[in-house]
Amino acid sequence: MIILHHIDDVRNALESYRKQNKTIGLVPTMGALHEGHLSLIRRCREENDIAVVSVFVNPTQFNNKQDLATYPRNLEKDAKLLDWADIDIVFAPQPEDVYTAEDMAHPFAFDFHGLDEVMEGKQRPGHFNGVVQIVSKLFEIVEPSRAYFGMKDFQQVAVIRLMVREMNFHVEIIPCPIVREESGLARSSRNQLLTKEQKEQASNIYRILRESLSHLPNCSPAQLTDWTVTQINAQDGLEVEYYEIVDGDTLQKISSWDDSSYVMGCVTVYCGQVRLIDNIRLK
Ligand code: PAJ
Repeated sequence: MIILHHIDDVRNALESYRKQNKTIGLVPTMGALHEGHLSLIRRCREENDIAVVSVFVNPTQFNNKQDLATYPRNLEKDAKLLDWADIDIVFAPQPEDVYTAEDMAHPFAFDFHGLDEVMEGKQRPGHFNGVVQIVSKLFEIVEPSRAYFGMKDFQQVAVIRLMVREMNFHVEIIPCPIVREESGLARSSRNQLLTKEQKEQASNIYRILRESLSHLPNCSPAQLTDWTVTQINAQDGLEVEYYEIVDGDTLQKISSWDDSSYVMGCVTVYCGQVRLIDNIRLK
């Protein structure tokens, strides 16, 4: 495994593989790797000749400076895990290796066709601009045959798919299922910031999402939304930022179960200062 920090080094390292028509898989990450990331990484390793993982805490996708400052970083530990996973190339740049001062100063322009006006996009203005900015750059540098993304960030997958269509990237997007702790809590780098007690509190999020499935036949999407929010907010230490029941492709809210054949419930909950996201397929 080699760890590279500069764009040109990554391009040079991949050039000969590309000439030999080897398939290249990419897993973009912000590091602090856990089992959720590793599920994508193992799949990338299995399905491609060359496996590339990027580790970069992308400053342009953080709309909250405190969140960026406290985001866990540990390249040494991540590199060990990636070595064990038999990854070929780790791309771990510094912000100045990928961005000019101009890039950092202005939001990256992209037409999201409304995908950025709901849920995460609405709560975190500019977040998806930063995601598209870095992922499009990574796709240009690595030119992967396949790229792996987790369904935990459900809206991110929809945004990346749109980006691929709009920017004509020749890459297959592989969505991967959510990996959870035994308690049901979706694995996240941010879980490290939770106390033991908070972790127990946070495990109620998925328990309630699952329980909501049994109420689904008897109520409308609006009623199920109210029920879910009330249940989560009734738990000590949890506060819902939003819960939306949406069409899984357009991410627009549905008002009747007949509006769509692919329905997702997407939630963001604060557990103390820590912002946790999760989702469940309802139909
Ligand atoms: P990060 O939060 O590090 O996540 C990297 C990838 O791992 C994402 O595709 C995310 O959905 C996936 N992932 C995280 N937790 C998961 C879990 N419990 N189960 C399954 N997959 C999980 O998402 C980002 O980084 C960034 O926005 C990035 C795409 C790297 C752009 O900066």
